[in-house]
Amino acid sequence: MALVAPSILSADFLKLGQEIEMINNSEADWIHIDVMDGCFVPNITFGMPIIAAIKKIARKPFDVHLMIEKPERYFEDFAKVGANILTVHLEASPHLHRSIQVIKSLGMQAGVALNPHTPVSLLTDIIFEIDVVCLMSVNPGFGGQKFINQTTHKIKQLKQLIKDCGASTLIEIDGGVSLENAPTLKKCGADVLVAGNTVFSSPNPAETIKSLK
Ligand code: DX5
Ligand code: ZN
Repeated sequence: MALVAPSILSADFLKLGQEIEMINNSEADWIHIDVMDGCFVPNITFGMPIIAAIKKIARKPFDVHLMIEKPERYFEDFAKVGANILTVHLEASPHLHRSIQVIKSLGMQAGVALNPHTPVSLLTDIIFEIDVVCLMSVNPGFGGQKFINQTTHKIKQLKQLIKDCGASTLIEIDGGVSLENAPTLKKCGADVLVAGNTVFSSPNPAETIKSLK
């Protein structure tokens, strides 16, 4: 069984409250929140006011995925609005070790996301410090894209790296996760499945979350 984190990027923003209630009442483990700045990725989503608003009714931990440049400018703000897991991109973080320490010192769990072209071996010397590695299985920026198959090899490599180092890091897969590929991802070693389109475009999102688990 994997943890499931529905991505509200694919939710109906006109009914955001209802969508959060659906997640509250489902078997979802986390709520995945994609923050994009139009610079690191070619899309802009939402920021602190929206996250603070949904925090008032949400009953699941917030898994906040920062697709922004210089993410360290906002660590404190994301802690204040209720992020529980805060994930930065390795590609946007020249001082990753320091960023991870700051995120943890603010009481959050630290996540590191890797773009599809970034090898997992770059994490060798820091895997111990990371609570969650988010392997991007699409190019970040948009929901509803096609899963990049090479990711399954990266999951296995990362699993081995975590094992070799005796770390307890979770492996999260983000992008193109479907009911069809979920069993394979789990078999390869995925611990957390993010799903946007698969959940929110299905006729019964809560049932889909259950099936993904
Ligand atoms: C993409 C985001 C994902 C996105 C996944 O940049 O990081 O979290 O919401 O969406 P799906 O599951 O539709 O590929
Ligand atoms: Zn994401």
